[in-house]
Amino acid sequence: MKKTERCEAIVARDEKVFAPTTHLSYYPLAIEKAQGAILTDADGNEYIDFLAAASSLNIGSCHPVVTKALQDQLTRGTQFGNVYTYNETSVSYAEKLTSVFPGGVKAKIAFGNCGSDANDCAVKFARGYTGRPNIIVFQNGYHGNTYGSSSMTTCSSKMHEKMGPFLPGIHTFPFFGYDLDDKYVEENCVKQLEEAFATYLPASEVAAVAIELIQGDAGILPAHPIFIKKLYDLCKKHGILFYAEEVQQAFYRTGKFFSVEHYGIIPDGIIMGKSIGATLTLGGFMAREEIMNALPAPAHLFTFGGNVLACAAGCAQFDYFQTEEFQKHLASNIELIWKLADELKAKHPETVKVCRGIGMSMGIVLNDYNGVPANDVCYKTLYRAYEKGLLVISLAGNVLRIQPPLVIKPEELSRGFEIISESLSDFEQGKISDECFKYRKGW
Ligand SMILES: Cc1ncc(COP(=O)(O)O)c(C=O)c1O
Repeated sequence: MKKTERCEAIVARDEKVFAPTTHLSYYPLAIEKAQGAILTDADGNEYIDFLAAASSLNIGSCHPVVTKALQDQLTRGTQFGNVYTYNETSVSYAEKLTSVFPGGVKAKIAFGNCGSDANDCAVKFARGYTGRPNIIVFQNGYHGNTYGSSSMTTCSSKMHEKMGPFLPGIHTFPFFGYDLDDKYVEENCVKQLEEAFATYLPASEVAAVAIELIQGDAGILPAHPIFIKKLYDLCKKHGILFYAEEVQQAFYRTGKFFSVEHYGIIPDGIIMGKSIGATLTLGGFMAREEIMNALPAPAHLFTFGGNVLACAAGCAQFDYFQTEEFQKHLASNIELIWKLADELKAKHPETVKVCRGIGMSMGIVLNDYNGVPANDVCYKTLYRAYEKGLLVISLAGNVLRIQPPLVIKPEELSRGFEIISESLSDFEQGKISDECFKYRKGW
C-alpha cells in the first residue's frame, strides 16, 4: 500500500476552502512537482503522466527550452500588459502563430487568457464581421466555462443547471464521428442543418460554425471526413464562417500543428488555448485579417491577455517544435502509441472496445464486462492505474483519456500502457473492490 497521508490531508484542506465545482477529481492526488512526463505527489509517489494537465502540457513539464525562456524573461519583467503598451515578445509570438495558419492565409490574432475566452472572442468577431447573430455548435462539444463558451458547450448539463439564461443565438446540431457508416454520414450529416435553414434558422443569419474536429471531452472522437467536407461546403455556400476549435488538439497533439490539417480544409478562424502558452496561461483566436479588423478596441482585450511570460514560453516552444529532434521524437512516439494500443486491444479483447483518435490524442473505449457497466470498468481501471503509478482519467464515462506530453520517453509510454493492461487484468480477475468508488467524482 502506498503512502497517501499528505495527499489526503491536502485534499481535506482543499475541501474547506474551494468551491466543489472547481475540481473533477478521480482520486486524492496532490502533485508536488513535475518534470517531463513524470509527476511526484506530496507523499513522494511518482506517476507517469497520461493527462498532460488536460493537454496543456504538450511540451511536458519544465522543458529546458521553456525554463530558459522563462528565466530570461523573469529578469526583464513578468507583466507589461498589451493594452496600453507594446512588446516585441508578444509580437514575435503572434507572428509565429499567424505564420502557420493553414493555406498561408493572411491572419491576425487576439490573445486572451485561456481557451474559454478564445471561444468568446470567436463569437464576437463572427457577429462583428458578418453582422449575423447565430452560431452553430455540435452535440457533446466542449468550448469552456465563461458564460459565452459554456453557452456553446453541450457535453454536461451540470455546466448549464441553475445558471441560465445563457448567450442567445447558439444552435446545436448532431456531430458525426469517424466510426459511422460512410453512406449514412453522406445522407444524413447536414440534413438537420439544411432543414433548420429552410424552416426556422435562415442561413443568411448564421455567422459561424465552431467545431472540434476531434471532439476531446466527448471521448477523443474524430469527426467523419465526409461530415466535415459537407459542413464546410455548406458554410461556403451560405457565407458562414468555419471555425476550427483547436483548444485541445492543436500544437502537434494530433501529429500536425492543427488538427484541422488532417481534413484538408482551410478554416476562416482558429480557436486556441491550453498548450498555446507552453504550460502558462494563454488563449488566442486568429482568423483571416478582414475578420479580425471588424471590431474596434476595446471590444476584446484583457489586462493579462498575451502576457509576456506566456508569450516568451510560447515562442521557445514554437521554435523547439519545429526542430528535427522534436519532429523525429513525435513521429516515433505516434508509431509506438498505436502499436501499444493494438497490443492492448489484442490482450483485452473483451474489455477494450476500440482505441480511437489521431496522433498522441487517444481514447481507449471500454465495454461492459460480466454485467459491470463500462463506466465502472473504466473507473476501477483508472483507479488501479493510479495505485500503480499512472495518471489517467476518463471521458464520457467509459473512455480512458490518453494524452501524454508529446515529449514523453518511449519507455514511459510503454510502461504506462503496461500499467493499463495490468489494471485491466486485475479488473477482469475481480481484484478491484468497490471501495475505490468513494473517491469517484470526475466527469
Ligand atoms: C476543446 C476545448 N475547448 C475549450 C476549452 C476551455 O479551455 P480552458 O479551460 O482553458 O478555458 C477546453 C478545456 O478543456 C477544451 O477541451
